[in-house]
Amino acid sequence: MKREIVFATNNEHKLHEVAELLGDRYTVIGLKDIGCTEEIPETAETLEGNALLKAKYVFDKFGKNCFSDDTGLEVEALNNAPGVYSARYAGEEKSAEANMNKLLLELQNKLNRKARFRTVVALIIDGQEHFFEGEVKGSIIEEKRGAKGFGYDPIFIPEGYTKTFAELPLTEKNTISHRARAVKKLVTFLETTT
Ligand code: IMP
Repeated sequence: MKREIVFATNNEHKLHEVAELLGDRYTVIGLKDIGCTEEIPETAETLEGNALLKAKYVFDKFGKNCFSDDTGLEVEALNNAPGVYSARYAGEEKSAEANMNKLLLELQNKLNRKARFRTVVALIIDGQEHFFEGEVKGSIIEEKRGAKGFGYDPIFIPEGYTKTFAELPLTEKNTISHRARAVKKLVTFLETTT
């Protein structure tokens, strides 16, 4: 029989993608489906902490098996900033343009442009906590290129590529991305151990 699991997200795109991957064994539902309309606080100082906060919130309040993800862009020359603050790097309005402009300014004249996207997935199932991590290494270029994707995609080139994430077809980004790699580990775990 199929088990139900909550993905603590309101992002329909992410939900659909993961539901496709887990389709045989799990019915994946989102926050809306369990009537969770409030904004879940993301007040931790690490990706692990924030991912766990969201999964715990759902588990404690709704008593359901749940997983959640949190992603950050970690830039080596900036001591891994913006990291957990990636979405609101340039302010609470969470503007992707403003975030990229701020990052490019901070990196002006810096020779080390190395960066990585890191995703942490926190899972609470049968009362146990588990973490899965995915990363993609790359570098930050000096000006924005491309119109696909979102967030910092126009200024990030993955290692081994010449195009930014915003220039690559989405299907290609989705096979090598931080999120895809973390989710693959989650899927393998759920398929083999539950
Ligand atoms: P979230 O945890 O998936 O909401 O990601 C937090 C922030 O990291 C987003 O608001 C974006 O600024 C950035 N981010 C996450 N994933 C990506 C990506 O695939 N490309 C570019 N930026 C991303």
